[in-house]
Amino acid sequence: MSKMDWSTLSFGYVKTDYNVRSYYKDGKWSELTVSDSETVDIHMASTCLHYGQEAFEGLKAFRGKDGKIRVFRMRENALRMNSSCRGIAMAELPVELFEEAIIRVVKENEEFVPPYETGASLYIRPLLIGVGAQVGIKAAKEYQFIVFCTPVGPYFKGGFATSPMVIFRSYDRAAPLGTGTIKVGGNYAASLIPNEKAHAMGYSAAIFLDAKEKKYIDECGPANFFGIKNNTYVTPASSSILPSITNKSLMQLAEDMGLKVERRQIPEEELGTFEEAGACGTAAVIMPINKIDDIEENKTYVLSKDGSVGPISTKLYNRLRAIQYGDEPDVHGWNTIIE
Ligand SMILES: Cc1ncc(COP(=O)(O)O)c(C=O)c1O
Repeated sequence: MSKMDWSTLSFGYVKTDYNVRSYYKDGKWSELTVSDSETVDIHMASTCLHYGQEAFEGLKAFRGKDGKIRVFRMRENALRMNSSCRGIAMAELPVELFEEAIIRVVKENEEFVPPYETGASLYIRPLLIGVGAQVGIKAAKEYQFIVFCTPVGPYFKGGFATSPMVIFRSYDRAAPLGTGTIKVGGNYAASLIPNEKAHAMGYSAAIFLDAKEKKYIDECGPANFFGIKNNTYVTPASSSILPSITNKSLMQLAEDMGLKVERRQIPEEELGTFEEAGACGTAAVIMPINKIDDIEENKTYVLSKDGSVGPISTKLYNRLRAIQYGDEPDVHGWNTIIE
């Protein structure tokens, strides 16, 4: 544990010792190999560079008070990566190979999993790309799968707190029948400018409306939206948002806590009726929202009058983190303990 200064960690890249790789050729994936190289040597005519054949995932491993390392819901990430592969005509990866790669990368870099007390974690980034020389616009014949990891600091350095978000009507992240439901690079390219603008204006994220009608809430940057009112957890149903694994988990925990759960379209005007709201994703678990500005329409929706985090968001956040760190029983079988 001596290599790292845990207190200075943010959400950035820190070099670890090893990454894990597999190569797809002639219809099959190779055995995993362990590499200490941080670079990828691929052909300049690879489809990932030209035609966006690129999918990735993001998940975390946590060290508990008991010293054990737990990886959160990795099978969900494996399934979502395959859904991404199907969406952009890439070779799918056997779920078992994905899971083996995750376990291997954590084991090989065990000393980079932050200690329990730091509130930090190990972020794991699986990546699948189309490679091999190809100029015509068609799917690659060869693919490379790489998993690396990097320790990341706690999202809320100054404590769990609310922040403001902004709706920009002049940007779309994904088309209604496009690639919004899968985790491919193109979606993120489309979100860079609005997110940069949002940050420059003091907002923590840009909220996207549905691209077709500009009426319903889609996503909050790289996170799903949820609102709470009348003891109900409400989250958007949309054909252009990523199915968040954190959101899926929070819906389950909300149900466990006796809340009703609704997945349905959320018209923008409804924002004003929520008692609490937040964005959810692997990075922060929950980013509570105090207000949302629709700047083009000159509207503001207040979601926390005094700026504090609401009681239900707090309970959901604490509950999910407690499961991830092994402080509370893993009643839904979400963790894989790395032996
Ligand atoms: C566009 C988008 N939506 C939602 C999420 C949250 O998903 P998850 O909870 O699986 O991290 C992410 C992050 O992965 C994302 O990039």
